[in-house]
Amino acid sequence: MKFLVAYYSRTNITKKLAESISSKVNADVEEIKPKVNYQGKIGYARGGKHAIQEKIIDLEALNFDPSDYDVVYIGTPVWAGKAATPVISYLKQNEGKFANVKFFVTAGSSGFESTIEQMEKYSIKPLKTLALKTKEVKKDEFDLTSFIE
Ligand SMILES: Cc1cc2nc3c(=O)[nH]c(=O)nc-3n(C[C@H](O)[C@H](O)[C@H](O)COP(=O)(O)O)c2cc1C
Repeated sequence: MKFLVAYYSRTNITKKLAESISSKVNADVEEIKPKVNYQGKIGYARGGKHAIQEKIIDLEALNFDPSDYDVVYIGTPVWAGKAATPVISYLKQNEGKFANVKFFVTAGSSGFESTIEQMEKYSIKPLKTLALKTKEVKKDEFDLTSFIE
């Protein structure tokens, strides 16, 4: 089985999870890199606005083709109750290229369900989902066993 982990992370929380998953399932890793700047305070405000608008943005060139993989793990932080704009843009750009997907989502506290619903709308029904709070990821309070099996 071939696995790809594709994720966007603004402050390295979702990235920590992505690295944990990829090391366990021996996956290739695609960090989704937006051509739009979402860093800093202005970037935060821009991110919230773009997420609400479900804006599709340009991404830096990808290293991997999701259609080459049996399962693609897709990771996002929650932005205003939705998936981060770079992840929605990734799903849109790769429409029809996913055989199977699993979603992993991090958030301060809320918006997991609406984010997962939106990701499904832009791709396919996930085999599994994993929702973790920022502080759980920070403190290593998660167990990936059932998510990766
Ligand atoms: C623009 C923006 C909007 C956010 N909206 C939410 C939200 O609706 N609910 C929530 O619990 N956390 C929200 N957060 C917090 C992030 O989801 C959380 O800190 C996440 O773990 C960050 O992951 P990252 O480091 O991989 O970017 C938001 C963060 C940003 C930047």
